[in-house]
Amino acid sequence: MATLKILMAADERLKKVAQKVEKVDLSVQKIMDDMLETMYKTNGIGLAATQVNIHQRIVVMDISFDENGNGKKPMYFINPEITKRGKELNVYQEGCLSLPNIFDDVERPATCTVKALDYNGKAFTLECDGLLATCIQHEVDHLDGIIFADHLSRLKRNRILTKLQKCKKRKEYSQEIFNY
Ligand code: NI
Repeated sequence: MATLKILMAADERLKKVAQKVEKVDLSVQKIMDDMLETMYKTNGIGLAATQVNIHQRIVVMDISFDENGNGKKPMYFINPEITKRGKELNVYQEGCLSLPNIFDDVERPATCTVKALDYNGKAFTLECDGLLATCIQHEVDHLDGIIFADHLSRLKRNRILTKLQKCKKRKEYSQEIFNY
């Protein structure tokens, strides 16, 4: 396994729309293994392939592990599609591995249904709520070239991007657990 380099906002490559995976083979599984390792290493709970400059519709997530890295339950989503969004909205303070040390409230549907292929290419459907619902919506956004700051007001978004530019040279990640 290998650790991959994470793209930082406002890198234009984060705006690319990812392509559908045609076949879940060893190369796709290798990408998922590397993404997962990268995500754990940086204390993230979710990572989209777009963030590591791989423009295929692949997401890895784990919302189970604690701050010591115990209780890992990796989740794999290939070609994830949100087929239903609940009417009720929920606000979470979101963070992102591509926007280190930035956290802000984002409003999204509180529940959603996602269809995807798993690590072995098998189709599944998952009903999501709570953090899981927020996280998968955040990751699917990445595959469509959208970062969470795009959901904020223009003023807030510009402020975030300016702040990121200033600390571009610092490579540390926040130790908060909610990095998606
Ligand atoms: Ni993110």
